[in-house]
Amino acid sequence: MSYNLLKGKRGIIFGALNDMSIAWKVAERAVEEGAAITLTNTPVAVRMGETAELGKKLNAEILPADATNVEDLEMVFSKSMEILGGKIDFVLHSIGMSPNVRKKRTYDDLDYDLLDKTLAVSAISFHKTLQVAKKLDAIAEGGSVVALSYVAAQRTFFGYNDMADAKALLESIARSFGYIYGREKGVRVNTVSQSPTMTTAGSGVKGITDLIDFSERMSPIGNATAADCADYCIVMFSDLTRKVTMQNLYHDGGFSSMGMSLRAMKQYSSGLDEYKDEKGKVIYG
Ligand SMILES: NC(=O)c1ccc[n+]([C@@H]2O[C@H](COP(=O)([O-])OP(=O)(O)OC[C@H]3O[C@@H](n4cnc5c(N)ncnc54)[C@H](O)[C@@H]3O)[C@@H](O)[C@H]2O)c1
Repeated sequence: MSYNLLKGKRGIIFGALNDMSIAWKVAERAVEEGAAITLTNTPVAVRMGETAELGKKLNAEILPADATNVEDLEMVFSKSMEILGGKIDFVLHSIGMSPNVRKKRTYDDLDYDLLDKTLAVSAISFHKTLQVAKKLDAIAEGGSVVALSYVAAQRTFFGYNDMADAKALLESIARSFGYIYGREKGVRVNTVSQSPTMTTAGSGVKGITDLIDFSERMSPIGNATAADCADYCIVMFSDLTRKVTMQNLYHDGGFSSMGMSLRAMKQYSSGLDEYKDEKGKVIYG
């Protein structure tokens, strides 16, 4: 159902790889709500993924760009303003990747070059996006920028690894930049902290299936899906939230406020054995 919440607005959506991507759902909902958008992702993702298909469906131009590269970001904002015919009203940063997780490096055995990459892609790219947008004066007064985060920024989750540090930095950037961008240009900057979701990036998280199950049991109203997340982002892009900025907004069925649920406790007490890795080393899980 459409409420025309984004009628006449212009947006840029980063990170739609395939139809499981949270950004994919946000792009679809944004257009359904009356927005005109451009899509951007890495050149490799555009070649290998299904972004082109989404572009055709939504009549959205695709701008291949590496979000860690300032010149690429300048191109994304300049071209988007040209294509969409004016300043941008909303931006979704839906980008995350950890080469340490990919290479199965544990948090007490991180490769620091890979950590640099995790932070560059998953957090500092958000600062670059905001800085480029501000320098180009590309976002309209009252515009809204959202990045996607996870509760591992506040609490420790087994296996989330250096992505937890990246998310903590991402949320801090939203506050620090939100202050400046708000004062100077009236632009809002927030993070949405989403439930674990089965996507390409999500499936890289250690034990994602069990994590989704645990989180579902712990959340009084259950996990939020990618489609639910899209609805929330639309509200954040709309004029209905024009006084919300510098916030980390939990969108997780109540998970982040829970301590222990009966179902989770029962499930937990049914298996209290020590956990071991492939080499027989005890994992303190
Ligand atoms: N899936 C989950 O459980 C979950 C939960 C909370 C938050 N999030 C966050 O949601 C966001 C989107 O992830 P998703 O779950 O939809 O997975 P996804 O794999 O569909 O999306 C991740 C995107 O990041 C893009 N990307 C990677 N490196 C990039 C770069 N250098 N420049 C530009 N784009 C780049 C990828 O191409 C991909 O499109 C991420 O920030 C993720 O951490 C995911």
